[in-house]
Amino acid sequence: MALIKPHGSDELNPLYVYDTAENEALQHEAKGLASIVVSSATAANAVMMGAGYFNPLTGYMNKADALSVATDMKTTSGLFWPTPVLNLVKDADGIKAGDRIALKDPNVEGNPILAVMDVKAVEEFSDEEMALMSEKVYAPAAGEAHPGVDSFNAQGKVCLSGSIKVLNFSYFQDEFPDTFRTAVEIRNEIKEHGWKKVVAFQTRNPMHLAHEELCHMAMDRLGCDGLVIHMLLGKLKKGDIPAPVRDAAIRKMVELYFPPNSAMVTGYGFDMLYAGPREGVLHAVFRQNMGATHFIVGRDHAGVGDHYGAFDAQTIFDNEVPAGALEIEIFKADHTAYSKKLDKVVMMCEAPDHVKEDFVLLSGTKVREMLGRGEAPPKEFSRPEVADILISYYQSLDK
Ligand code: ADX
Repeated sequence: MALIKPHGSDELNPLYVYDTAENEALQHEAKGLASIVVSSATAANAVMMGAGYFNPLTGYMNKADALSVATDMKTTSGLFWPTPVLNLVKDADGIKAGDRIALKDPNVEGNPILAVMDVKAVEEFSDEEMALMSEKVYAPAAGEAHPGVDSFNAQGKVCLSGSIKVLNFSYFQDEFPDTFRTAVEIRNEIKEHGWKKVVAFQTRNPMHLAHEELCHMAMDRLGCDGLVIHMLLGKLKKGDIPAPVRDAAIRKMVELYFPPNSAMVTGYGFDMLYAGPREGVLHAVFRQNMGATHFIVGRDHAGVGDHYGAFDAQTIFDNEVPAGALEIEIFKADHTAYSKKLDKVVMMCEAPDHVKEDFVLLSGTKVREMLGRGEAPPKEFSRPEVADILISYYQSLDK
């Protein structure tokens, strides 16, 4: 049986150059081209396009498309897309429309060439246009700093648009050989498993009991054959847990608490935007591209601080995503937590007779403090084997 169609086309069209001879020829050619060291966000966009996750995009958006996507969630040609995908620089440095340039990787020592770009236009956003995009995409709370908006603005206002060919997957393949996967690889693995209904779980955190049970609930209620845990491997804000630690914790949890061959532990190379609802929609787009039929969106998905309402990333699918724009279906989950009365993790809305004290609720800060002291959170919150891995990490920070 054919898998779910990618977004916007019948076949997935990853921009990575798989043909070895062509890849080598382009690398050779790129050495003689004008080059720029791109921002981390631009590099991550290239990795996502290379890996097929941003199908059917063929390169970086121009101003008109970026503004149209920011305001209406569609490009000027009508393609549904939730966030601008840009190559922003502070200074065009003599680059002009018609040039072929090399994009160098800011995140790998020596800045190797990541992609080759055919520049179609060099434009500049006004301050008002930058502010409009931030407002629409990140919807920051008034007067409060927002890590996504800060990174967005730090890149510059000059917009280089045009198609790209991607030559490698940055540091992701080397640093996370067992976990980094392209959308092409995930589709292939889903086919090999013979899974028909597949639910994807986004995460940028280690998975505690509530996350684990959320995945089990989604699988059971949807009748899924498989789960793809798909973690962000790119850059996060200070204080978030590094990817290798999350990866180890999640792998341990899956090994011990999921039936064999029911869950894939995978990751993708993108920096966190912290764009809440809009990022939730982007997450759904690229999970469809990797072949998932369903996608879990829970509480404060892709949120940061108090910028978004706890369920804004769910309501955007009802109120702003046009019917039929996406084929992937959203599994909307209420706040999940351990019920002391029922002795299991439940969705809070399904325990209407409960009061707050009936649940085991711990704030992120409290959990971090406990782990830092070498104390495991209660087993109703965290699997002990997961807690051990996190304790080692927090204790290594003090040394
Ligand atoms: S995210 O930024 O990647 O969304 P996180 O890794 O914390 O952050 O969450 C992963 C997914 O689990 C998201 O869909 C989020 O909404 C959901 N989630 C996390 N904790 C809970 C919870 N206690 N109840 C319901 N959903 C949750």
